[in-house]
Amino acid sequence: MVKIAPSILAADFANLERDIRRVESADYLHVDVMDGMFVPNISIGLPVVQSIRKVTDLPLDVHLMIERPVRYVERFCQAGADVVTIHVEADGEAEIHRALDLIRAHGKRAGVVLKPGTPAEAALPFLDKCGMVLVMTVEPGFGGQKFMADMMPKLRQLREWIGGLDCELEVDGGVDPVTCRTVIENGATVLVAGSAVYKAADIPARIKELRG
Ligand code: DX5
Ligand code: ZN
Repeated sequence: MVKIAPSILAADFANLERDIRRVESADYLHVDVMDGMFVPNISIGLPVVQSIRKVTDLPLDVHLMIERPVRYVERFCQAGADVVTIHVEADGEAEIHRALDLIRAHGKRAGVVLKPGTPAEAALPFLDKCGMVLVMTVEPGFGGQKFMADMMPKLRQLREWIGGLDCELEVDGGVDPVTCRTVIENGATVLVAGSAVYKAADIPARIKELRG
């Protein structure tokens, strides 16, 4: 069965603990970190991850949308992340390797993320080090955008390359009760969902529904 990672970007930040409790039947908690440089938005950072860590046992899936993530990955591991994913577009190849090595040295699952315009091939140099590959199905930066179905060939290609490796294939952006079926069919194993989860009247039922 696929895993669901609700994105707290769609939660009420003034009631974050309550909104984390509401998604406890999920498999991960997806935390979007934005620096206002790599993406045109600023969200949350290290102190918030530290605080979240204290109020939930859900594994924290931290999606870093920041320039030169190698500068910060160790601090996010120490703050309580279980998975740290970094964008391949955010630095040169050697620095991305170094960032993945640092995450793994902390005993955490490391992953790379591909923006919609980035081809599947961009993940290849890093696959051996990845416990997760994240395919964006919207332009990163904001919740509530429309799902890009034209990312499905990229998802299928990555599914093929990952094969039997211990590596999750995650999709992020516009996942709802309809598009979840498409991404599952194309090989995704972890589905991020922000608005589809938090706008639902019955959140546990919605999480179940998203499992396809
Ligand atoms: C966008 C973030 C997503 C976002 C998804 O940059 O990476 O995680 O919260 O939101 P929805 O599910 O509303 O598209
Ligand atoms: Zn995300």
